[in-house]
Amino acid sequence: MPSNRLEAPLRKLMGPGPLDIHPRVYQALTTPVIGHLDPAYLKTLDRVGELLRNVFATQNRLTHATPGTGTSGMEACVANLLEPGDAVLVCVLGYFGDRIRQMAERQEADVTLLEGEWGKPADPERIKEELDKRSYKVIALVHAETSTGVLQPMDEISRLAKEYGVMILLDSVTSLGGVEVKADEWGLDAAYSCSQKCIGAPPGLAPVTFSDRAVEAARNRKHPIRSWYLDITLLDKYWGSERVYHHTSSSTLNYALLEALQLIDEEGLQHRFNRHLKNHKALVAGVEAMGLEMLVEPPYRLPTLNTVRIPEGVDDVKVRGYLLEKFNLEIGGGLGALKGKVWRVGLMGYSSSVENVLFFLSSLSRALAVQGCKSDLSSGLDAAMSELGA
Ligand SMILES: Cc1ncc(COP(=O)(O)O)c(C=O)c1O
Repeated sequence: MPSNRLEAPLRKLMGPGPLDIHPRVYQALTTPVIGHLDPAYLKTLDRVGELLRNVFATQNRLTHATPGTGTSGMEACVANLLEPGDAVLVCVLGYFGDRIRQMAERQEADVTLLEGEWGKPADPERIKEELDKRSYKVIALVHAETSTGVLQPMDEISRLAKEYGVMILLDSVTSLGGVEVKADEWGLDAAYSCSQKCIGAPPGLAPVTFSDRAVEAARNRKHPIRSWYLDITLLDKYWGSERVYHHTSSSTLNYALLEALQLIDEEGLQHRFNRHLKNHKALVAGVEAMGLEMLVEPPYRLPTLNTVRIPEGVDDVKVRGYLLEKFNLEIGGGLGALKGKVWRVGLMGYSSSVENVLFFLSSLSRALAVQGCKSDLSSGLDAAMSELGA
């Protein structure tokens, strides 16, 4: 007789997300569901906000997690900051920058695109040229472009935004909790992330933070915010001191998010960033010693998401299928312009570990061998271990 039990294979998640989840976070998911206005639950929500302020490095009062995945955070930021006719400069150097562009166009903002090669960061010089041409309300860009594996340096862009009095809208979906995000220092007006990557919780919530200036601008718009669900002036009445019902907040997901944030707090942010960097360097050393190449130049490599070029003649889909079937290992394929050209290997949150680096190198070497592509695994493992100082 077929079993009615819910079954899912136990995978090792090393793709662009979701990633592996710490047992304590799984356990938090079984905490009893309670009402969204229960005083005990409101304490949970307050603590989520408090710990999110730490990871965003901000004092912003309006810092919380919108219901929905990272895309809901993106929509919250775009829909609240932009109204019809607002001039926005959108930097598109990958798949997710383009998603911001699409959303800004749906808000009927006056969108100027600053496009660049996928695999490279946005050039502050070009941003400056655009800012010299006309006045903008917002610059929108992606801090950690998951489609290319590029980490966007922020210091110069932040300086320019301050000099020209432009707001910054930042996608920190693949950086928050794994790479430094300095919302206050960089002067971010709206930033969003997701629960399922470096934060280490299941998908379903999107951490967001809005500066006081952004909240003020949202309150004083000419046109109403086009998304009712993600209108921060309404959400603020639930998250803030008024405690007015807005939506039935998922206590289950917020418990998990809180536990994941508590784990981050216990580890310490700087220690966590160092761990992500160390494991990334070991993976790169291993991959390169095996004879493979990275897509991104060293200064711009994102520690949390590694893009490895697929060697000539190797079948992307077969390799990923083999890894999943034989080793229960999930890695990501390329998106958009990079489809079939790169693998995307995530080392985020609980998945960023020495064991995972070594497991990935060995499994990939075997998958390549099955395709008739030789790689030097022994050198790869040696290089990774020596990078780790082991
Ligand atoms: C940089 C970036 N932005 C936005 C998103 C959208 O997030 P989600 O798929 O959680 O809606 C992703 C998803 O991977 C992403 O990597």
